[in-house]
Amino acid sequence: MSASLNIALIIGSLRKESINRKFAEYMVSQMLESVSIKEVYIADLPLYNQDYDDTTIDSYERVRQQLKGADAVLIVTPEHNRTMPAALKNVIDIGSRPYKENVWTAKRVAVVTASPSTYGARDSGLDVRKSMQMLSAQMMISPEVYLGNATDSLDDAGEVSERTQKFLQRFVDEFVVFAGQTSE
Ligand SMILES: Cc1cc2nc3c(=O)[nH]c(=O)nc-3n(C[C@H](O)[C@H](O)[C@H](O)COP(=O)(O)O)c2cc1C
Repeated sequence: MSASLNIALIIGSLRKESINRKFAEYMVSQMLESVSIKEVYIADLPLYNQDYDDTTIDSYERVRQQLKGADAVLIVTPEHNRTMPAALKNVIDIGSRPYKENVWTAKRVAVVTASPSTYGARDSGLDVRKSMQMLSAQMMISPEVYLGNATDSLDDAGEVSERTQKFLQRFVDEFVVFAGQTSE
């Protein structure tokens, strides 16, 4: 059966042992078989520079096409110094340009954040929402998920605890419905 929904996944952390990647992998594992999820690889993207708007950069084209073709984008990210990590902001900027070719327009986007600290990288999530509003994306408003004390939600094997699995299930279910909604 071919997938009826295409989801692009962006993980805001470049770290091998990222806790955000663990939560993202868990959420992906809970999505229906009819959902195709492809990660948008962001680690190799040169820092956005407006001078590049008139040239072709293969990695920029790759992510722009991937984002354009997705029914929805799921961003799972930590927080760096009270905002989103630079690598995540970079792919958001790359997708937003050249001027008038903004791939985020009307794109369905949801964000989940996680951090070992109490606030769960909430400021990072709120800043993603702020950028997406400016870019005319359709942000999933609720449920909001900011996973605080997130290392406590993983066991020694790196598996998501049962309690957090239950907590994430509502988000996963609602995200799949949100991703499948048409704009008409
Ligand atoms: C440069 C840098 C800045 C950070 N700033 C914050 C911060 O503002 N708030 C926070 O909760 N954690 C902050 N942290 C800690 C991260 O939340 C922690 O490293 C987390 O595990 C990163 O997510 P990851 O495991 O998915 O890579 C920072 C970490 C780094 C490396």
